[in-house]
Amino acid sequence: MNSIILLAAGKGKRMNTSLPKCAFPLLNKPLIEYLYQTVSQIESIHQIICVVGYQKEIIQSILLNRVIYAFQECPLGTADAIKSCEGLIDNIGYSIILNGDTPLITKEIIEELIKFHQINKNDFSLLSTDLDNPFSYGRVIRDENNNIIEICEEKDLKEEMKNNKEVNLGIYIINNNLLFDALNKIKISKNNEYYFTDIIKILIEDKKCVSALKVQDNYRMHGINDLITLSKIEKNLIDEIRNKYMANGVFLINSDSIIIENDVKIKKGTIIYPNTILSGDTRIGENCIIGPNSEIKNSIIENNVTCKHSVVEDSVIKDNTTIGPFAHLRMKTIIGENNRIGNFVEIKNSSIGNNTNAAHLTYIGDTTCGDRVNFGCGVVTVNYDGIKKHHTLIGNDVFIGCNSNLIAPVNIGNDVFIAAGSTITSSLSDYDFSIARSRQVTKKNYSAKYKANTR
Ligand code: UD1
Ligand code: CA
Repeated sequence: MNSIILLAAGKGKRMNTSLPKCAFPLLNKPLIEYLYQTVSQIESIHQIICVVGYQKEIIQSILLNRVIYAFQECPLGTADAIKSCEGLIDNIGYSIILNGDTPLITKEIIEELIKFHQINKNDFSLLSTDLDNPFSYGRVIRDENNNIIEICEEKDLKEEMKNNKEVNLGIYIINNNLLFDALNKIKISKNNEYYFTDIIKILIEDKKCVSALKVQDNYRMHGINDLITLSKIEKNLIDEIRNKYMANGVFLINSDSIIIENDVKIKKGTIIYPNTILSGDTRIGENCIIGPNSEIKNSIIENNVTCKHSVVEDSVIKDNTTIGPFAHLRMKTIIGENNRIGNFVEIKNSSIGNNTNAAHLTYIGDTTCGDRVNFGCGVVTVNYDGIKKHHTLIGNDVFIGCNSNLIAPVNIGNDVFIAAGSTITSSLSDYDFSIARSRQVTKKNYSAKYKANTR
């Protein structure tokens, strides 16, 4: 059985915080989630095992039941972590072992390592690269014939090894029939840890075939041990994502000020203005204008939508609609086509049909609204009585005058006209005209007398 083993039981002492390292967010997604998403696409794999230990509940709350868990009691090193998988792995096939702190490794590079392992009929293969600054990595030590003899960890480097720039990237593949016998032969190091990398000397002594696939350096293969490296990798990733979209015809203006998370998708012809953050599972269609100063999270924006100075969360906006400036759409709001949702409008948990306008200073909450409705300036759907939220239903072709309150629960039929300043407490039927405000009192020529009396 071919397995993936993700090592995520360590604390990550060098991060200097209490969160387990593999749960740290990189562009808002935990490191271990990146790895899971990558390895779950590799076809030759039958099972994914994640080794957990330190604050295992946190890692488990990320991966849930998508993987099999192995438990390492104490963090006694990478070899000890892999030992905890005994019983989950049979003697047939191979296991690919990945450090859980190398989140951006690609499916392609893992598949290249599998191919390399099989073509060379290796027993053990690893991925290596040359780094200008190899500090903190284990170094690949070779003999005069260029064959690997060992990996030496940073702390144990002899003086003459320090200039060696070839590093172990922490991605390995080993034939299952050798794995646990060899692991059991690994002795504890001077640093009181069982190093998985010591397996190389053991396999070579047993005349097994060990070699490294040396690849071009790329930030995606770097391990994260501290917050400084995490931040550097995040910057690289943000750049890579921006460049990908620009190459595909998405126009980013002052691109350095724009953040696009890894899972966002944007179609060509769209322009993104400065200070905009697109996050989570967001999809944006063609020829939209997004920003400046907008935040869109977990939302679907269709084509030709404009969204300026606004926040959109967990919502859908259909074709040709304009949002903002200064609108806030949230909690499963669906806005139809050709709508104008303008200045200082908040819409929550509501669905709005097509060709509807709410151009200024409006709150729409827990509402279902039809087509061609006009919300005048200052309209409020009064959805909360202090204890419960209530629903408002509005038909098609309704005119709601400025500063009206619709006290929910309330149903407004089709073609209704509500006069400005009305507080509507009872439902209205199709074609009703409603005016709900106190009648105006006008006293002829009273103004002069009033002033004389009061000054
Ligand atoms: C490791 C390698 C080093 C390599 C580097 C690549 C060893 C001994 N060294 O060093 O040669 O250059 O990765 O990035 O393997 N873990 C556990 N249990 C433990 C210890 C660690 O599950 O007891 C997990 C950690 O959560 C982490 C991974 O193993 O995801 C690697 O551990 P880490 O301490 O970061 O190893 P490095 O010192 O980076
Ligand atoms: Ca590491």
